[in-house]
Amino acid sequence: MENIDFEKIGRFSKAGPRYTSYPTAIEFKDSDEVREEYIKELKTLKTPLSLYFHLPFCRSACYFCGCNVLYTSKAEKRLRYIDYLKMEMDILKKYLDTNREVIQLHFGGGTPTFFTADELSEIIGYIKTTFTNFSDKAEISCEIDPRYLDEEQIQVLTKNGFNRISFGVQDFDEKVQTAVHRIQPFNVVEDSVKLARKYGISSINIDLIYGLPFQTLETFKQTLELSKKLNPDRFAIFNYAHVPWLMKTMRKIDEHTLPEPTEKLKILKYTIDYLNDNGYKMIGMDHFAKPDDELFLAIEKGELHRNFQGYTTKGGTQLVGIGLTSIGDGERYYIQNLKDMKSYEESISQGKLPIFRGVKLSDDDKIRKDVIMELMSNFKLNISRFEENHQVKFFEYFKDEVVNLKQFIDNDILTIDKNSIEISFTGSMIIRNIAMIFDGYMKKHSESKKVFSKTI
Ligand SMILES: C[S@@+](CC[C@H](N)C(=O)[O-])C[C@H]1O[C@@H](n2cnc3c(N)ncnc32)[C@H](O)[C@@H]1O
Ligand code: SF4
Repeated sequence: MENIDFEKIGRFSKAGPRYTSYPTAIEFKDSDEVREEYIKELKTLKTPLSLYFHLPFCRSACYFCGCNVLYTSKAEKRLRYIDYLKMEMDILKKYLDTNREVIQLHFGGGTPTFFTADELSEIIGYIKTTFTNFSDKAEISCEIDPRYLDEEQIQVLTKNGFNRISFGVQDFDEKVQTAVHRIQPFNVVEDSVKLARKYGISSINIDLIYGLPFQTLETFKQTLELSKKLNPDRFAIFNYAHVPWLMKTMRKIDEHTLPEPTEKLKILKYTIDYLNDNGYKMIGMDHFAKPDDELFLAIEKGELHRNFQGYTTKGGTQLVGIGLTSIGDGERYYIQNLKDMKSYEESISQGKLPIFRGVKLSDDDKIRKDVIMELMSNFKLNISRFEENHQVKFFEYFKDEVVNLKQFIDNDILTIDKNSIEISFTGSMIIRNIAMIFDGYMKKHSESKKVFSKTI
């Protein structure tokens, strides 16, 4: 593996988006026009569907959590939420052909397994009667907090075709776990992973986060060793996004205990080497998979895609988000559901889709989205394919951007010629910084630090 000058690339650390969408969510506007046009688009698209259900509840707060979560332990809140999810699906049926093929279904959270086995069964049952055309090859996945998974729940999931599970592990070190308020011993995680395997889940992913309080290269080495024992098919290794101005619980973390960018880069470099030596290949920005995994095969063909759930082989779908705060991704629109429960319920009770804010993509947005997603996914851009798809001359359209890439060329972070942009191994670690060059909204935000998390 390449030697990396950590000091040098550590200097690139600055605030920047993670590009699960482009334009990013801060460009989403509360607009009647966007909502109306999105609904029109829902009626016209014919592409296969990818469904995302947000199940927002958790029992207690992990201080690092950046997800949209409601903390509760009340059963009546869950039951009430199920009723509203069903009503939301009924409303959707008016605007969307729910016989379109579904090739992806994802339960995210919060903690989906905060719902009991019977409750999960009821939700899935309603989804299957609403969306009647599930592909035999559909990818059906669920995020699971290993502290909350029992045998009945996994039975319900596997009986209903769930074939992928993503476990939130984050870190195994006790001091780190205490600092982030998430005590989760190894045996708890191991038992959950065994349970999933026992019922035939064919793809298991483990989420880890680097950049958490008290983490060092040494502690993270231990976390990796333990995680490897679980033999997951994939790893997602997230860079901790610290945005305490947005997430109250993050204010409980003492910023002095967070590792410095150079330590984080060492952790990342070690992680990449370690996983590579142990049979995993790096996929896009923060994912790793075994070489026979379809994600890896997709990257080989340059066909990897990025969306709100991370990386996927399933491009060209329409993502429909259902439940509080969910985001949909159509041909020309991103749209997000309401974020507070009261307005979400009110909208549904009035028979209206609970959509709230979104953005219509201009031609320029679509062009930039394509470049950014391609770089974030495949670490290269095929310029002739890009020009063919968009009917624009790359070097004319991105005259200023190409000049701005010089800082990366000079640091051996990327190469560019008339055919392609290729990102080096070192460059893959700061891929967000490179993508930011092509972000048409960046200038507007460069004044304000308090928008995005740090890239390193
Ligand atoms: C919705 S959460 C996970 C589901 C489940 N509740 C759990 O915690 O196991 C999805 C993943 O996002 C990641 N995550 C959450 N907050 C994050 C943050 N601030 N920065 C980076 N990754 C984060 C965690 O790795 C987490 O497992
Ligand atoms: S990390 Fe998972 S369990 Fe923890 S608060 Fe966030 S969604 Fe809930």
